[in-house]
Amino acid sequence: MRDKALSKNLLEWYDTHARILPWRVGPKEQATGVRPDPYAVWLSEVMLQQTTVAAVKDYFHRFTMRWPDIRALAAADDDEVMAQWAGLGYYARARNLLKCARTVAASGGRFPDTRAALQELPGIGPYTSAAIAAIAFDRAEPVVDGNVERVMARLFAIETPLPKAKPELTAHAAALTPGHRPGDYAQAVMDLGATVCTPKSPACGICPWRGPCAARARGAQTDLPRKIRK
Ligand code: ADE
Repeated sequence: MRDKALSKNLLEWYDTHARILPWRVGPKEQATGVRPDPYAVWLSEVMLQQTTVAAVKDYFHRFTMRWPDIRALAAADDDEVMAQWAGLGYYARARNLLKCARTVAASGGRFPDTRAALQELPGIGPYTSAAIAAIAFDRAEPVVDGNVERVMARLFAIETPLPKAKPELTAHAAALTPGHRPGDYAQAVMDLGATVCTPKSPACGICPWRGPCAARARGAQTDLPRKIRK
């Protein structure tokens, strides 16, 4: 399958199988042109660094009830934010969250809409800048987390072990990223990795990419991605 056919195929799967997550815009709303709120996308992506979707949901609800937008969070009491963050771990994330909220609020209250400008903000690195640019602003940036690395390693049967394989996997992810609906596409690959192309027992029988998957063709899906033993 060519890159375009692959992304089209996955987007069709996403249209019926996307996980319903509190920071996402539902398909009906999206059909009317509603875009995700950059504040919600940013907050969820920072929370999701090193924390599972299941654990993040409640925290996300509490934060957005208490601080519904970037200005509210920028004006928050530091100790209260740290208290609400308790349990999520990696407290530097919470401190950077506040720094970032205050920086954005001080420069007009809108998040920048390019990956390069997003990456200038506190706590926003290469992954998070790509995720916000793609999901909130529909920019064709490749979004590569651990799930996406696993999906790419299997789809293209990449034998190079991680972490050495990262540039190669990112190049594949970039080549597949479509110009049309790149934000949905980014979330679709992450959902595929989280729900179908799982580390231990992938559900290849229901995978939209079971046909073109090179690892599956050789029965090697659970051997990939290879990792350098520590
Ligand atoms: N993991 C991190 N960000 C995610 C997102 N936007 N959708 C699904 N899984 C994710």
